[in-house]
Parts: sequence; C-alpha cells; structure tokens
Amino acid sequence: MRIIGTGSALPEKVVTNDMLAGFLDTSDSWITSRTGIYTRHLLSKETLGELAITAAQAAIESSGLEPSDIDYLICSNVANSYVSPSLGSIILAPLGCSCPCFDLNGACAGFLYSLDIADAFFKTKRAKHILIVAAEEPSRFCNWHERETSVLFGDGAGAVVLSDEEGFLDFRVTADTHTDVLYYKRSLETTPYDRVEEKTMPLVMQGREVFKLAVRACIKDVDMILEKNNMTGSDIDLFLLHQANLRIIDSIREHLDQPKEKFPTNLQKYGNTSSASIPILMDELSRAGELKDGSTLMLSAFGGGFVTGAAITKWTKIEYKQEENQ
Ligand code: UT7
Repeated sequence: MRIIGTGSALPEKVVTNDMLAGFLDTSDSWITSRTGIYTRHLLSKETLGELAITAAQAAIESSGLEPSDIDYLICSNVANSYVSPSLGSIILAPLGCSCPCFDLNGACAGFLYSLDIADAFFKTKRAKHILIVAAEEPSRFCNWHERETSVLFGDGAGAVVLSDEEGFLDFRVTADTHTDVLYYKRSLETTPYDRVEEKTMPLVMQGREVFKLAVRACIKDVDMILEKNNMTGSDIDLFLLHQANLRIIDSIREHLDQPKEKFPTNLQKYGNTSSASIPILMDELSRAGELKDGSTLMLSAFGGGFVTGAAITKWTKIEYKQEENQ
C-alpha cells in the first residue's frame, strides 16, 4: 500500500512552558532540557471530532479522491468523551464517507497498528482506499496539578489516505503486558451485582521506566526490521519517530549512528500528541517538500501497554494544491 494523501490539525490554543510554570512547580529550563518541548497545542474551543475532520478532509483532498471513494476508515484514538459511538462513527458522515469504520487503541503506537491492519485489508482485497485518522487529546487524561505528566502532552490529529499500490516494504508490531508503568483508568457504572467503587484515575506514568522501555523497544524494532529487509540505518533517508521526548529520539539516533538531519522533529512545538504524532510530522514534512520522491522512511513508535510498531516505506511525492501550502 502507499500513502497518497496527508493532513493534520492542531488546536488553536498554544500553551508555553512559562504558562505552565505559572501554576505548576516546574520551569521552562527543566521542560526544555529534559524533553525538548517548548510549547503544546491544547483543545479549548474545538472538539477532538472537529480536529479529526479537518485533518481527514485535508488528507482526502490531497489524495485527489472523493470522500465516497474511501472503503474503510480506521480511527486511532486512546480515549475521548465517548466510549460509544466510536470517534470514527462520529466523524464519518460529516466527512461525507459512507464506509465501515472502527476505532483502534494502540496507545501512542496506534498509527503503526492502524497501518498494519490497513495493509492486511489491502492484501485480502477488502479495500482500494483506506483513511486512517489518528486523533488524540492526551491533555484530557492528565492530572493538571501534577508536573510529571501534564507538561509532556499536546492534542492534535493527523491523517493519511492509503491506496492499493506499491509503497510500504514491511511492518513490525509488538505487544507486552506492562500495565503498571503507564495507564489511565476510567470508572464504569456500578451494577446491582458489582458494587466495586471505581474511580477515574488520571494518567499514571513511571517516566524513567517508560523512557528505558521506549529506547530499548524502538532500537530492537528498528534493528530487526532493517535486518529482515537486508538494510542498515544508512539505507534510510528519514526516521519519523514517535515525538515523545527529544532525549529518547537522540538515544535511538546514537545507537543507529546516523546524522541528526535524518531525524526530523516537531515535538518542540506540539509535545507528545500520542498516536497523532507521526502522521502530523509526516504531513508537515510532506507539505514542506521535505519528503523526496523515492526516499525511504522508517516509522517507529511506542506506547502504553507496552506496545510498539515500526514500518519501512518508500515515499511517493504528493502534490498539494497551491493554497494548501500557504
Ligand atoms: O508516549 C509515551 C509517553 N511517555 C513518555 O514518553 C515518557 C518517557 N519518559 C520521559 O520522557 C522522562 O522520563 C520524563 C521527561 C518524564 C522525566 O525526565 P527524567 O529525566 O526521567 O526525570 P525524572 O523522572 O528522573 O525526575 C528528575 C527530577 C525529579 O526530582 P528529584 O526526585 O530529582 O528531586 C522529579 O520530581 O525532576 C523532577 N520533575 C520535574 N521537575 C520540574 C519531574 N517532572 C518535573 C517537571 N518540572 N515537570
């Protein structure tokens, strides 16, 4: 399969580190030196559904297809206000699509998991065109009195349209049970038979543990997928890695012994937007003309679970309308 259209959308509200230091015991220098993050965009006026629609519309428009051409919509999302209906169902009709859809929770690796599923649909001839929309509001999981998590995240949506053509070379997705290092717990209703008092618990994260797991897992994924395809790091033109922490990206880069220019980042502006981070980065780079025709990209992400995903794709240049570039 091949990516033939991209789109992204960020909330209007930009929150700086200094703004956070106004009500949290933190500082701009701590956040920038430990994470690389300077600002993040947080939902205030918009809904997550609106962001998802904007990103998806841009992706469909740049693909040259009509919404009615989409055969399947996969929505990558960890959580939003609705448990049911799915976010996919919420955005489907406003997009003008009338295809089957479902939400996929692969945590921050959800975009890679969605690509893997889409690839299987193409291989079994279930679809000719698939829309993936990764839309996330991790800011809504955090305890905003806690500096450990709330400074890290931002909200956003990224989307791609895929078609049944040559492009992706390989995928690797993994999962393991490590529920204690990163979780967000929502309460369900009690029943007459089960009166366990459940409480919603904001995001709990053992940062250092997640950091180590992330670096180890991404290095393993990237090494294994390269080896399987008889490639080395030098065969990859750009590494589009999950945008969680600049130090995590640097550790992976150092292991691969590849130049900094091959690891584009935008976490400085957006923080960690969960599964939306790679498609947002991809859309920005593609629209800026940074993704060259025929170049080879490595995608790699990790997230709560613990889950990981990696993929290698050849890039085919996407033509955007003039006004879209402005
Ligand atoms: O998509 C997956 C999501 N999660 C991640 O990717 C997170 C991965 N982990 C990380 O990115 C890093 O571990 C963090 C950025 C979360 C933390 O950086 P660290 O270098 O591992 O710091 P630490 O947890 O070891 O904490 C160092 C100190 C502690 O104080 P003491 O015990 O040394 O006095 C923390 O309490 O920094 C303190 N600290 C802060 N200080 C100012 C923790 N958060 C903050 C903060 N501002 N926001």
